[in-house]
Amino acid sequence: MASRGGAFVVLVVLCSLPVLPLQACATKKPLVPAMFVFGDSLVDVGNNHHLPNVNNSCKANYPPYGVDYPSHKPTGRFSNGYNLADHLAQQLGFAESPPPFFSPTNAKARRFSRLTSTGGINFASGGSGLLNTTGGSKVCGGQVVSMAEQVGNFKSLVRTWESKKRKQAAAAADLISNSLVLFSVGSNDLFEYSDFFADPNHDPNVTRNDPAFLQELITLYAAYVKDLYAAGATKFSVVSPSLVGCCPLQRKIANDSNDMDGSGCFSTANNLSRQLYPMIHSMLRNLSQNELPGMKYSLGDAIGMAQYILGHPRTPPNNFTMPPYRPCCGKGDFGDTGCNDSVPLCDDRSSFFFWDRFHPTEAVSAITAQQLFGGNGTFVHPVNVQQLVASSASRP
Ligand SMILES: *[C@@H]1O[C@H](CO)[C@@H](O)[C@H](O)[C@H]1NC(C)=O
Ligand SMILES: *[C@@H]1O[C@H](CO)[C@@H](O)[C@H](O)[C@H]1NC(C)=O
Ligand SMILES: *[C@@H]1O[C@H](CO)[C@@H](O)[C@H](O)[C@H]1NC(C)=O
Ligand SMILES: *[C@@H]1O[C@H](CO)[C@@H](O)[C@H](O)[C@H]1NC(C)=O
Ligand SMILES: *[C@@H]1O[C@H](CO)[C@@H](O)[C@H](O)[C@H]1NC(C)=O
Ligand SMILES: *[C@@H]1O[C@H](CO)[C@@H](O)[C@H](O)[C@H]1NC(C)=O
Ligand SMILES: *[C@@H]1O[C@H](CO)[C@@H](O)[C@H](O)[C@H]1NC(C)=O
Ligand SMILES: *[C@@H]1O[C@H](CO)[C@@H](O)[C@H](O)[C@H]1NC(C)=O
Ligand SMILES: *[C@@H]1O[C@H](CO)[C@@H](O)[C@H](O)[C@H]1NC(C)=O
Repeated sequence: MASRGGAFVVLVVLCSLPVLPLQACATKKPLVPAMFVFGDSLVDVGNNHHLPNVNNSCKANYPPYGVDYPSHKPTGRFSNGYNLADHLAQQLGFAESPPPFFSPTNAKARRFSRLTSTGGINFASGGSGLLNTTGGSKVCGGQVVSMAEQVGNFKSLVRTWESKKRKQAAAAADLISNSLVLFSVGSNDLFEYSDFFADPNHDPNVTRNDPAFLQELITLYAAYVKDLYAAGATKFSVVSPSLVGCCPLQRKIANDSNDMDGSGCFSTANNLSRQLYPMIHSMLRNLSQNELPGMKYSLGDAIGMAQYILGHPRTPPNNFTMPPYRPCCGKGDFGDTGCNDSVPLCDDRSSFFFWDRFHPTEAVSAITAQQLFGGNGTFVHPVNVQQLVASSASRP
């Protein structure tokens, strides 16, 4: 397969997915002019690779990351192969997911004239969260790119596109309003908060206040959506934080801190995630109905999806035979060594839920993207991404 080149592989993958509409296989034209991606490691396609102060805990530019990518090389994706942004881009009809904002070789991709050929730009940064301080030096050795900065980077690009000729400004506004914004953020805020209080040696002067913390996250989330809307975006695909307490490392923290639920997951972290979901939902509904005319969204319930996948590991075509506390890359049950070339790597990646101690395998990302794109309403609300991008992009 590798020697035949990426385009061929992509086409095969695209046309073999059962939920894909026939038209996407028959035509080459993607369903949106471009995609703009924001958030964390579930969708980072190589931005962190370019941050000199960030250490390997928050980078994925070394083997065996990328072992199943078409090039079989690490690209900065926190996956064995494609990630969620890649799979969603392919569902939308792009050959590949848009390039990272920070890649110097992709500097031309920032030009407006190149946008439709690159399919957009990816601003996401592994380790980042809604809070500016999430993914800071204590976790990543240096600060990753916060959501505030990611949104700021988009806004300054839009300013340069629209400061050119009037004709280009109109074209840019039209392109942005018809494009898809993808958000995957919040998990790292929940990780850092729950890990902090699980540590018996944490600073006793920091008092825990879950409702205030969650409300702060929602206030920030709403501000980022409003900022992007003000810059012209109208169509938002939002993936909620998943059952963050079920990833292998959090399962270890659950065991070590004696805070485990019936599935072996970290209760505190999952509880926060379960409380946050309805808050994200009402925030988005409120914005679209009351505050931002023409703003449309598709919210993916990653908690429901995770419960479904963990609960139906062998429902064809799935064949997840390995237990969810065991990642493919990493030593032992929780893989808490981290993933690199000197720790064990599994052979059969598609039988694992988790690639490393934090991240799902490509197989799980593919299922998530299929549900976001074509899901029947069980895990996407109020419409799926296919319906979202087909709707008109009118704003008063
Ligand atoms: C990255 O930096 C953090 C904070 O200093 C540290 O805890 C972690 O072990 C480092 N990771 C690596 C792979 O060096
Ligand atoms: C977060 O960072 C942005 C700049 O990226 C800044 O404008 C904002 O004030 C910061 N927020 C806080 C609470 O420090
Ligand atoms: C907590 O606050 C007290 C009183 O302000 C102070 O003496 C102490 O050093 C603080 N502890 C930590 C760990 O910061
Ligand atoms: C789980 O925690 C117990 C102590 O509470 C410890 O003895 C055991 O080794 C832990 N299990 C693993 C796999 O870390
Ligand atoms: C979270 O935990 C609190 C207290 O333990 C409980 O009352 C609440 O029902 C839990 N919420 C969810 C959504 O699980
Ligand atoms: C909805 O938005 C309005 C402002 O437009 C705000 O006052 C209100 O608190 C929001 N309601 C919810 C449930 O978020
Ligand atoms: C599922 O994977 C196991 C190995 O993990 C393999 O032995 C088995 O044949 C697979 N089943 C199907 C139906 O592919
Ligand atoms: C790989 O990870 C192991 C376990 O955390 C660590 O001891 C080792 O230094 C790492 N190797 C490289 C090449 O970074
Ligand atoms: C909707 O999709 C879910 C998940 O794929 C599936 O379990 C369910 O049966 C579907 N419902 C309908 C009405 O098709």
